[in-house]
Order: sequence, then structure tokens, then C-alpha cells
Amino acid sequence: MELLKYLDTFKALPTPFYFYDMELLRETFRQAQEESCCIPLSFIHLAMKANSHPQILQTARDYGFGIDAVSGGEILKAIEAGIPGPNIVFAGVGKTDREIIIGLKNDILCFNVESIPEIEVINHLAGQMGKIARITLRVNPDVDAHTHKNITTGLEENKFGIDLCDILPTIKKINSLPHLNYYGLHFHIGSQILNMDVFQQLSIKINSLQNALENAGITTNSINVGGGLGVDYTSPEKHPIPCFHEYFQIFYKFLKLRPHQEFHCELGRSLTAQSGALISQVVFIKEGHVKKFAILDAGFTDLIRPALYQANHKIINLSSSTGEDIYDVVGPICESTDVFAQDIHLPLTHRGDLMAILSAGAYGHVMASEYNCRPLIKEYTSDDLK
Ligand code: LLP
Repeated sequence: MELLKYLDTFKALPTPFYFYDMELLRETFRQAQEESCCIPLSFIHLAMKANSHPQILQTARDYGFGIDAVSGGEILKAIEAGIPGPNIVFAGVGKTDREIIIGLKNDILCFNVESIPEIEVINHLAGQMGKIARITLRVNPDVDAHTHKNITTGLEENKFGIDLCDILPTIKKINSLPHLNYYGLHFHIGSQILNMDVFQQLSIKINSLQNALENAGITTNSINVGGGLGVDYTSPEKHPIPCFHEYFQIFYKFLKLRPHQEFHCELGRSLTAQSGALISQVVFIKEGHVKKFAILDAGFTDLIRPALYQANHKIINLSSSTGEDIYDVVGPICESTDVFAQDIHLPLTHRGDLMAILSAGAYGHVMASEYNCRPLIKEYTSDDLK
């Protein structure tokens, strides 16, 4: 991501703010799209929970992506950005009646469902509206994603999905209900996955489940492998675009899709993280007896990942390149977790310097809060600043 060429523009904007490099984003989407073509009938859905900026949604639409939505609000925002309802999948363990109705009204592709009570409610509401809802079952495949404990989802102990042994009876239940149509299987085992063996294991689990279902006479139209491909937070400049080739090749090689079957994936982080940066200004340099603190005007209200997951985001000083010192880079909020990085080497840093916190285009602005009456900060794209 080229930030320095925007330095003068950045200096004129009130900080903090998010910046999205649309050229990098488009190239990322293009590569993902191209690499997915090795799998016939493949569909990429942008997991909108990672980033819901309207221009990013419109770019997803331009590349033929659908949307993975997790709330009624996301469905409506996707429709507003021009994504057709039939290109939207809707996930979530606790869909409310109001949200299910939004999905039905907009004829979304399918509901990724996670429990029997949810199936019954969707059937009831679809019946009232004279619709047939397509259902994909979220399966808990019991595959360990080997990622941070707060973002792993595919283990038996997690709240997500239906256990493997309950899948067949659940499909029978769906087929017995008049306003539902069993459409396919959905999986999502976790996020920030860098070890491709995990996706290989997932493919193998899916293959054996498919065999068992076929033996029971069940036809599955769609396999959705969820999201989860990780990005390089340590050296984003070396890996600005994740290796989509490796990712799609794993499924191409190991997942035994039937000729009629659609392949869906729901990528969030890998599509948007590296194109975004949080731009912030140093308010003070505070010299303690032990440490030097660079206190920013951005805090965990703007980017919560370091505080919530101990996530590491590379930080660069855009204004200074001379000298070197060791700093803790922290926010202004009165909480000890408001720390972006500890003991990092930076050029000599001064009050007023502009800092960029990198890889912040996924789960950044979307997770912001107004804690301390801090207003939500603005997002600018490179297209806006041209
Ligand atoms: N599909 C489902 C069903 C999901 O739950 C998620 C993410 C995705 C797709 C997209 O996963 P991705 O490709 O982005 O890994 N806030 C956390 C990440 C939470 C991920 C939740 N689910 C973070 O900042 O690391």
C-alpha cells in the first residue's frame, strides 16, 4: 500500500481516520476472482462483517462477488450497494424474525442455519409470506483451525453449527417442512488461518459427510466452505495480497465436488485487511522512567483488535524517518488495554507526526464504538482523495 504519496492530503484531514487503497483492493479482488476459476461453479461472497464501506461493497459487486451477511442491517446495506438479493447468503446463530423477513423479502440465495428452532421459525415465516426459503446447514466439522481462541469456531465445544451426527436427521426435518428447500452445507472453522492443511482437513471431512448423505439419498446443491484465509500482519508490505492461488488449489485438489455442485466461500479479512490503514496523529510523547510512550489520537474505540485479541498491527511513522527509539504506541482512553503496540522500534517520533496502523481494512471501522463519547471516525478511499 502506497501511503507516502498521500501524505500532503492526509495532513489536511482531521485525524484519526481510516484510509482504503482502492487500487490494492481491486487488485486483491481481481486475483481472488481469477484464482477461484479453477473450481467450476465457484462463487465468492465478501464477508461484509469485515468491512461494509459502500465503495468496497460496490467493488465486490463489480467483480461478481456476492455478500455473506450476518444481520438484517447488512442485508439492507448490501442491497443498497447494488448487490442482488440472490447473491446474498445470511448466517448467524440468532437471526430475529425481523431479520428473517428481510431475507425472505429480498429473495436471498439461502439462510445458513444453525439449529432446529431456527429452521421451524424460517418455515413458519416463509409460509406466511408465500415463499420457499433455501436452507444451507451450518455444520460443525470439529476441525481445529489453530488460530486465536476467540476466533476459532469449528470445534465441537463452540456454539456454532450443527454436530456432524445430527446432520442427516436435520436435513430430513427440513425436507418434511413445506416452505423450505434443503440447498446445501455450510462450514466456517475460524479466522486468520495461515496453515493450508486446515482447509485440506476440512475438505476431507466434507467429502466423508457428502458420501454419507448420498448413501442416504440426499442431494446437496451447494458446498460453502466459509471464510478464514489469513493475512500477514507482521510484514504487510511483503504480502499485500494473500495467496489465493494456494487457498483455492487446496479445495480444487481435495474437495470432491459433484458435477452439478456449486462451491461458495465467504472471505472477509483476506479480501480487505491489507487495503486499509488507520491514520492517526501523535498527541504527545511521554517519557516515563522505563518507557517512552507515543500517545495517539486513535484508541481502541477506533481499532479494537489489539485490545481484544492481542492482535499485532504493524505501525509506521509517515512523518519521520530519521533516528530510532523504542516506543509503546498507545491510545488516549483511560483503560490499560488501550495499547496498539509495545516496545517497537520507530524513527524518532514527535508530537504531530502522522502514524499509520496497517492491515486495518478488516474488522477495523466495523468494530468501532463511541465509548467515551468519541465519535465514529471517517473513512476515506483513495478514489475519494483523487
Ligand atoms: N463466514 C462466517 C460464518 C464467519 O463467521 C466469518 C467470520 C467469515 C465468514 C469471514 O471470516 P474471514 O475470512 O474474515 O476470516 N473480529 C475478528 C474476526 C472474527 C471473524 C468472525 N467470523 C478479528 O478481528 O480478528
